[in-house]
Amino acid sequence: MPKPIYVLSGPNLNLLGTREPEIYGRDTLEDVRKRCEARATSLGYEIVFRQSNHEGELVDWIQEAREKASALVINPAAYGHTSVALLDALKAVGVPVVECHLSNPAAREAFRHHSYVSLAATGLVSGFGAASYELAVEAAAGLAR
Ligand code: DQA
Repeated sequence: MPKPIYVLSGPNLNLLGTREPEIYGRDTLEDVRKRCEARATSLGYEIVFRQSNHEGELVDWIQEAREKASALVINPAAYGHTSVALLDALKAVGVPVVECHLSNPAAREAFRHHSYVSLAATGLVSGFGAASYELAVEAAAGLAR
């Protein structure tokens, strides 16, 4: 069995399903986890699926992924727009990185148009709701080593 694909989610995504559902949809984070797991299983991978509201905890998990992951999917949420610490951790991770967003930040407020995470990602999936995560897992499996 290859190393798992890490799927990390940033702040406020624990509220998925009830938080601005007109933007982020009605799937809960647990629904998203199940969809990622099913997609990864079909591709021969396990996932490690975690969410944190804390920047430093996300940095710790990205560092953990250096040794333990074959690829990493991250929805950095608001930290994507602000966090040099996440960017630096991702630049050091040494495994393929796929950025994902439920909404399409490029079609929203200007402050969402810039992503530090994009500077370290091979690619980006955004705008497809929970399916963004599934597509990102599929892309990560394709890039995994
Ligand atoms: C998000 C988009 C971000 O701009 C926002 O801060 C989020 C969620 C998304 O999945 O669409 O919290 O990453």
